[in-house]
Amino acid sequence: MKAKSKYVCDECGFESVRWIGRCSQCGAWDSMKETAAPLPVKESAVHQRRRNATAPRQEGPQTLDEIEQPAVDRLDLGMAELNRVLGGGLVPGSLVLLAGDPGIGKSTLLLQAASKAALAGEEVWYISGEESVQQVKLRASRMGCDAANLWLWAQTDLEAVLARLQERRPDLVVVDSIQTMYAPDLESGPGSLAQIRECAARLGALAKSVHLPVILVGHVTKDGSIAGPMVLEHMVDTVLFFEGERHYPYRILRTMKNRFGSTFEIGVFEMRDDGLAEVMNPSLAFLADRPASAPGSAVAACMEGSRPMLAEVQALVCPSSLAQPRRVVTGVDYNRVNMLLAVLEKRVGLRLGNQDAYVNVAGGIRLQEPAMDLAIAVAVASSFKNKAPREKMAVMGEVGLAGEVRPVAWPEKRAQEAEKLGMIRLLAPKGTKAKAKNTGIEIIEAGTLIELIDSSF
Ligand code: TYD
Ligand code: MG
Repeated sequence: MKAKSKYVCDECGFESVRWIGRCSQCGAWDSMKETAAPLPVKESAVHQRRRNATAPRQEGPQTLDEIEQPAVDRLDLGMAELNRVLGGGLVPGSLVLLAGDPGIGKSTLLLQAASKAALAGEEVWYISGEESVQQVKLRASRMGCDAANLWLWAQTDLEAVLARLQERRPDLVVVDSIQTMYAPDLESGPGSLAQIRECAARLGALAKSVHLPVILVGHVTKDGSIAGPMVLEHMVDTVLFFEGERHYPYRILRTMKNRFGSTFEIGVFEMRDDGLAEVMNPSLAFLADRPASAPGSAVAACMEGSRPMLAEVQALVCPSSLAQPRRVVTGVDYNRVNMLLAVLEKRVGLRLGNQDAYVNVAGGIRLQEPAMDLAIAVAVASSFKNKAPREKMAVMGEVGLAGEVRPVAWPEKRAQEAEKLGMIRLLAPKGTKAKAKNTGIEIIEAGTLIELIDSSF
């Protein structure tokens, strides 16, 4: 924390935090001199705790090569998809927030991870403020989770929790959810912003001081922010977001912030009767029910983090009976689709202005990558022409407003994934052939949207 200098009068020794032209004690002019001795700046208790918990205990600056690389022994949560989004496991002393809509499967995921870690010999505490221990037990038995080292505790009083954690120091703590915890010494009620912030700060301080990883569950509010106006995001080390359409089985775990790893990784899960199953090969799952050859369906070769992935984009275009045609979009960006419809109309000459258009990513997943553009364009054009695109073809590329097709990142990885999934051709931007040499798939290059549509059928 920044310390301020003080000013002392040469004549009488009067001290002031600000420079003043004339000493207010002895009246001498220009006698106030700055001294190096700093006056401490007032800190709130929360500040102090957090600073003590996180600040490195070093006297002064060091050069980079003097600093020893800390040996990070990450905690294995027993699920590869979860470990990956965390950057290779959970870092001891880190505070992780798992956010998501109510009912999406946060408790299920963490109970599974907790029991796997417990089975591997870690002492895990699952503190539930939402469900009774009997409810959690019921769910655990249904999912076949049983572990002797998994401790359940239905508790919402944070002080009680902290006291016990100090005493016992388990290897992992899950707090489900941060919104139900309350610090008795605060006046505001449980779930209030002040409570959420304070509880998270105290848990974070404990995590750092005793080197204990803590995972907090946070429900998102209707506008998608975590526990109100993003209060927790900057207080925790890692923010994971669990998302998916409730009526579809697939769930995607995304990293939104990670002090200990990449923020682009995703984990894919499938909700089943007996809990969440990891989806190791998402492309296969997302393309499973795809019709072999149907108008309005295109396969997009996308990337999520370091992971190439194929997904099916579907479009249905039909004449509208409304003055303003209907546009319904799920799984991709609404404005992006509108832009693509306009570009298709203006640059390719497809008369889409009086057509209703429905665009959807199969499987209820959400993909927001610019490289999806071409697949959306092919699906829309295919539905409009009522003609299926060429068989076993994947598409990738971004579209510009002039109707030009722009290159995408990681072309080779995408091409290889498409080949692995049984595709035989890839429609791609110019230059892809040169960049994706290590693949056997036929690459068809398109420089403009017109060329693209010509090559698609
Ligand atoms: P839950 O983990 O309670 O959600 P959250 O903690 O995010 O609020 O998950 C609730 C949903 O998951 C519920 O609608 C039922 C479904 N579910 C399954 O389909 N299979 C299961 O094995 C479990 C435990 C839950
Ligand atoms: Mg829950």
